[in-house]
Amino acid sequence: MNQTNLKLNIVLFASLSWFAVATVNAALLPVELRCEYRADPLGIDAVQPRLSWCEQSAARGAKQTASRILVATSLALLKQNNGDLWDTGKVAGEQAASVSYAGKRLISRQQCFWKVCVWDNADKPHWSDVASWTMGLLEPEDWKGNWIGLTESLPDKLATTNAAFSRRLAARWLRKNFTVSRQVSRATVYFSGLGLSELYLNGQKVGNEVLSPGLTDYNKRVFYITHDVTDFLRSGNNAVGVILGNGRYYAPRIRKPAKTEPFDFPKLLLQLEVEYTDGSQQLIVSDDSWKITNNGPIQANNEYDGEEYDARREMPGWAQAGFDATRWMAAQVVKAPGGQLSAQMIEPIRVTGTIKPVALTEPKPGVFVFDLGQNMVGWCRLQVRGPAGTSVSLRHAERLKSDGSLYLANLRTAQATDIYTLKGGGREVYEPRFTYHGFRYVEITGFPGKPTLASLTGCVVNDDLATAGVFTCSQGMINRIYQNVVWGVRGNYRSMPTDCPQRDERQGWLGDRSEESKGESYLFDIAALYGKWEQDMADAQKGNGSISDVCPPYWAFYSDNVTWPSSAVIIPCTLLDQYADTSVVARHYPSMVKWIDRMSGFITNGIIGRDKYGDWCVPPEDPKLIHSKDPARKTSPEILATSYFYHCLELMTAYAKLLNQPADAQRFGQLAEQLKLAFNEKLYSPQAGYYDNGSQTACVLPLAFNLVPSAERERVFNRLVDKISLESKGHVGTGLIGGQWLNRVLTEGGRADLAYCFATNTTYPSWGYMVEQGATTIWELWNGDTADPAMNSGNHVMLVGDWVIWLYENLAGIKSDPAQPGFKHIIMQPQLVGDLKFVEAWHRSPFGRIESAWRRSKGNFDWRIIIPPNSTATIYLPASSVNQITEGGIALENVKAVNILNLEGGRAVIEVGSGSYHFISRDIPSGGHRD
Ligand code: BGC
Repeated sequence: MNQTNLKLNIVLFASLSWFAVATVNAALLPVELRCEYRADPLGIDAVQPRLSWCEQSAARGAKQTASRILVATSLALLKQNNGDLWDTGKVAGEQAASVSYAGKRLISRQQCFWKVCVWDNADKPHWSDVASWTMGLLEPEDWKGNWIGLTESLPDKLATTNAAFSRRLAARWLRKNFTVSRQVSRATVYFSGLGLSELYLNGQKVGNEVLSPGLTDYNKRVFYITHDVTDFLRSGNNAVGVILGNGRYYAPRIRKPAKTEPFDFPKLLLQLEVEYTDGSQQLIVSDDSWKITNNGPIQANNEYDGEEYDARREMPGWAQAGFDATRWMAAQVVKAPGGQLSAQMIEPIRVTGTIKPVALTEPKPGVFVFDLGQNMVGWCRLQVRGPAGTSVSLRHAERLKSDGSLYLANLRTAQATDIYTLKGGGREVYEPRFTYHGFRYVEITGFPGKPTLASLTGCVVNDDLATAGVFTCSQGMINRIYQNVVWGVRGNYRSMPTDCPQRDERQGWLGDRSEESKGESYLFDIAALYGKWEQDMADAQKGNGSISDVCPPYWAFYSDNVTWPSSAVIIPCTLLDQYADTSVVARHYPSMVKWIDRMSGFITNGIIGRDKYGDWCVPPEDPKLIHSKDPARKTSPEILATSYFYHCLELMTAYAKLLNQPADAQRFGQLAEQLKLAFNEKLYSPQAGYYDNGSQTACVLPLAFNLVPSAERERVFNRLVDKISLESKGHVGTGLIGGQWLNRVLTEGGRADLAYCFATNTTYPSWGYMVEQGATTIWELWNGDTADPAMNSGNHVMLVGDWVIWLYENLAGIKSDPAQPGFKHIIMQPQLVGDLKFVEAWHRSPFGRIESAWRRSKGNFDWRIIIPPNSTATIYLPASSVNQITEGGIALENVKAVNILNLEGGRAVIEVGSGSYHFISRDIPSGGHRD
């Protein structure tokens, strides 16, 4: 091991809110400080936040041997190494992620400055730079203001189409003047504006978040947002203003397409705390001294139908001191939404990019259609000049009809239309605030004159999650599908994972993202978002243990099926495996137990048949169908529910062991055994060699969950292979349930070539088929081009299944070992499939960046890998003999940093520590694959 150039750069991750990031004094920021925040949905509301850091080192075998955390109330104290809040002293060990704060009790508004010292293999200390976080408002009594708003709809323009049905209040504008009399040392605003809000101080928008705050069940939980606004204040007269949109708090629909929780009229709670240098304090809070109007430019808004903006009604200076608000009303003190106020600890939604249109047509005189070239989520920025009173209408769609006009049938009742009325007098630029659309095409009508490509820009809007990896390979179709998946996944982040972004639905359907969430963790840092979604599930849980199929339960579907709510048990496993985050398991364990206990009551003779949706969306026999009617394609409720419940029990057994609950572990383990016995007795046919009707999914699930007795595994696997090869001719035959395991089951069984077939097919049903039909995202249905529009979105990600997991874990060979989770130990076993020539991928793990780039040609395998400090990897390098392997040009036996374990199945098994390595293996066995 080379110790001489061992230098650790330490990157701190506090469990910070983005607010805390904003308060870090820029001068203190080290270049490497990446304050993206780590899975801590408790965050600044938590009196025990968790601290993480990440080390960077090019050295081989770099390890932290000990660490010391210091947390101080001031920067000055921290600089003197005085951790007056917490000083852990030197603690031996490698833990660098999720260290629970255990210092002095933290109080509301507390500023905490921290740093860590890390000792390397040579016991040499390395200090990190400083990071900080600020605690939120921890006690209900900290909130001094009232919720304010208007408890009536006034002469609001309720809807453009069907008043009874589409609910679209005008936006409400609120304001208040205040005076700043002394020198300000710090000013902080805490606020929650439901359903959606924008905050202004002295005419300037505070923060760059949009569609804020995040979605919750407002009866249970309400997010508040915090900003440091010191720089927004000025001495003398100031004004604060808030615009309230409807969001889901004034629900866009209440009866159709499903009964929806209506909540209430929009409302605001705000607290601005101004601290002066003389130690005094001033509070500006929401109360009945505020003024309110609904007579501003946003005349109607909701998420499905769009926004109507009349620029002639703009109120210049409305959020500045000196504005004449005599015609505004007094705000009413209204009832609180009821839910617990919690700091929003997920990244906010932002405009994360823009797209220029690629084409403009005029299918009918005066009707212009823009093509953005990409099915995207967000809205458009319109640039226009024309006479006052001209109304320009922007309607959004995913597809076109053959005559070049918009295809709207699959949006169902969503109007997806923004209307802008000009004020006249020059160039006007408009972007809506309180709506969003899923679209590739935009139809413009009413435009004064002829628009050009420059008249419109697509604004991409989603949760602003950090990219967690990139994958590319020699196969163009795989790269294209991967791009479609990335667009689809991020477009469906709306402070919860949604099913779709375009029609009158956009709900957090649990089933769509259970195991699939693991694949998403390779694309984005999803830890906080999914931690928040678990909280949504716990909030949605009834006293009897039942969990809604949709969370937050805007559509309250408590159907007690197994597969959809099982996400409450499965997603914590993703967070555990990928981030070593035990906190979500720990926090939600009681809720999971309650659900397991409830569902156990439905077990009859070892079988549970509670299913509602089947293996949702298998490729149907008739291209027009949404759901197959063919019993051979369907998988029975008993197979789906029992195998999933068995899997959940296995996970619960592991969680119980992790949390040191041996009695629970035994109870869940025993129940799992009973299910396994009954499953095999009742659903397995020893004659046929498969379960039930032997559909692809009926083979995949028992194999994936280890339900099949070992003597029968081969037969069940062969049945799966026959179904795929003979019946489906190398095509997928699974829906959303089977698809979440399919590629990995095939690969583990030695048929990665079939998974490769799925990935490269261009005939129906396949992702490549979607691409060939022009898709730039993933469809809801394998036959999205021909099926009925009633349930046919062009941007759903549930059919991605385990494909992304397969790309990273099985093609790139970057997989976290569940026995040492969070990529503490990495298993690198890339599959050499089909004509694949190279793969290049990286993933940012909690320990740092992992890379794998391999290339094969003429019987040689060239592999570069990077393992981060504190991690180790077992690599499976294709090889005919150890003598044929070099690392960095040196014969492998002579390389000290590697430990050759053995040669098995045409691969050399090698242990490595951190660092970068370049292996070349000559004359690799062909393994039956084409080269
Ligand atoms: C949604 C799906 C969801 C399903 C369950 C659909 O309308 O779009 O994604 O899982 O309903 O019924």
